Amino acid sequence: MATIMLGIESTAHTFGIGIVKDGKVLCNVREMYTTTTGGIIPMESALHHKNCSEAVFEKALTNASVKIEDITAIAFSMSPGLAPCLIEGMKFAKKKAKELAVPLIPVNHCVAHLEIGRITGAKDPVLLYASGANTQIIAYEAGKYRVFGETLDIGIGNFIDNFARFIGVGFPGGPKIQELAEKSDKNYIELPYSIKGMDVAFSGILTNLKQKFDKKEYKVEDLAYSLQETVFAMLVEAAERAIAHTGKNELLLGGGVACNTRLQEMCKIMCKERGCKFFVPSRDLLTDNGSMIAFTGEILFNNGEYVSVDKLDEVDINPRQRTDDVEIKYR
Ligand code: ATP
Ligand code: FE2
Repeated sequence: MATIMLGIESTAHTFGIGIVKDGKVLCNVREMYTTTTGGIIPMESALHHKNCSEAVFEKALTNASVKIEDITAIAFSMSPGLAPCLIEGMKFAKKKAKELAVPLIPVNHCVAHLEIGRITGAKDPVLLYASGANTQIIAYEAGKYRVFGETLDIGIGNFIDNFARFIGVGFPGGPKIQELAEKSDKNYIELPYSIKGMDVAFSGILTNLKQKFDKKEYKVEDLAYSLQETVFAMLVEAAERAIAHTGKNELLLGGGVACNTRLQEMCKIMCKERGCKFFVPSRDLLTDNGSMIAFTGEILFNNGEYVSVDKLDEVDINPRQRTDDVEIKYR
């Protein structure tokens, strides 16, 4: 019998529910907590999740044309993320699992960003995971998703958002910076280039950009353009090194920053030059979403990795779990 998996995402700003049946996404509903100034306040975001959870749940069932009693099991992101947000997601997941008397499947959010890439046809890729809080180059090796390279300070999305806030274009900054960059005459302004092996760093570049902006000598469009060209080149270089090191021949993009079409284009060029396949999921599956949690939950469930409804008390969140802490038993 086909499984109908409901997945709940709540790690940070997004509360999302997706429903997946046999690897196919039936719906992908979400509500995003936004702020006009400053970053996420975890307690506020958690309250947002709590307040919209029932409505998102109802909408997900409607959009998927699924009856509540048809749900086989419930997956939720148990790690990593902001503790208050994770707790709200878990509470909701447990409540529904109890009501429906179905198993619960805890899922690592970063692994889900990776697994959803299978929907594009990627089989054994190097993942360039570029989101708000995370920047990692990941690939499967010997029972785990190994982190081959990562940011040594802040995530690339937070870096872009921070600069965007500094120049007053608001949050999320990624799309705004991309728009500005597209308006530039492509006057490249030299910026620090910060990569060591497969690790990257952004805070020095951020300081440098802010100083350049304050000097008022440069067009903001050119700064945005140079920002993108510099940090995306760093990511592509790190990814290429990981591909060479692991001998894999697929590159997969994941995370919200992967929505950036210039980053996609640079990756495509590198892959073409190396004779490597390139995969990128659709936009609604790149940023945080419940479908990737459901998709990964289904893989775990089919492998017998779930918690039965009488053992829900044993399930907890893990805000700091790393991608390479997770044992991958289904591959
Ligand atoms: P995670 O918890 O996985 O680290 P997250 O919850 O912060 O991530 P995502 O939803 O995966 O985030 O990604 C959000 C980030 O994506 C934001 O920093 C946003 O600016 C960035 N982003 C969205 N669209 C674009 C774009 N076109 N170009 C660059 N960055 C983008
Ligand atoms: Fe994410």
